[in-house]
Amino acid sequence: MLNALPSALLVLALAAAPSPETADPRAPVLMTPAQQAELRAEMRRHLETVQAVLAALAADDIEAAGEAATRIGPGGGGAGHGQGQGQGRGQGGGPRHGFRQALPEAWFVHARPMHQQFRRIADEARGEGDRDRMLGALAEATAHCNACHASFRLAD
Ligand code: HEC
Repeated sequence: MLNALPSALLVLALAAAPSPETADPRAPVLMTPAQQAELRAEMRRHLETVQAVLAALAADDIEAAGEAATRIGPGGGGAGHGQGQGQGRGQGGGPRHGFRQALPEAWFVHARPMHQQFRRIADEARGEGDRDRMLGALAEATAHCNACHASFRLAD
């Protein structure tokens, strides 16, 4: 019972800490609400793709896994593919269309290698179809998802 007290106090102290906004280590990426909604929708499609690749690999359906991976791989219309400038900040200058112009250059440090890993999965499916290599690429791809999520958050 007594041992529970310090942790209860810690929880109270954390609750009283500065707002999460100031404590958040992720860099804000400024976007209009419409751009944010578009990016979030694409992110949810990314997770669906991860699930589709995993399900196909679990069923040993190499071809289906490769096909699913092309939804994200370069050419699949993913966030960041082929973008190099990303100077726009999505504010001022009237309404903007599309979120890609709001992305900072550092975004692509994570986005590009993630896309490359999905392309590896698709290429492997068309090549030797080695399931372990495809799983390894999926693990690397999702590590890039996580690295980016740790680095950036959306803000108005
Ligand atoms: C280059 C950066 C980047 C990469 C790579 C990335 N994400 Fe995201 N993702 C974000 C950001 C930024 C958000 C919004 C975070 C916030 O709420 O402010 C986000 C949000 C999401 C969300 C929540 C969507 C919603 O409706 O709120 C999901 C799910 C998601 N990402 C899945 C993925 C998956 C799966 C991958 C990899 C296959 C991935 N993301 C790769 C940056 C990235």
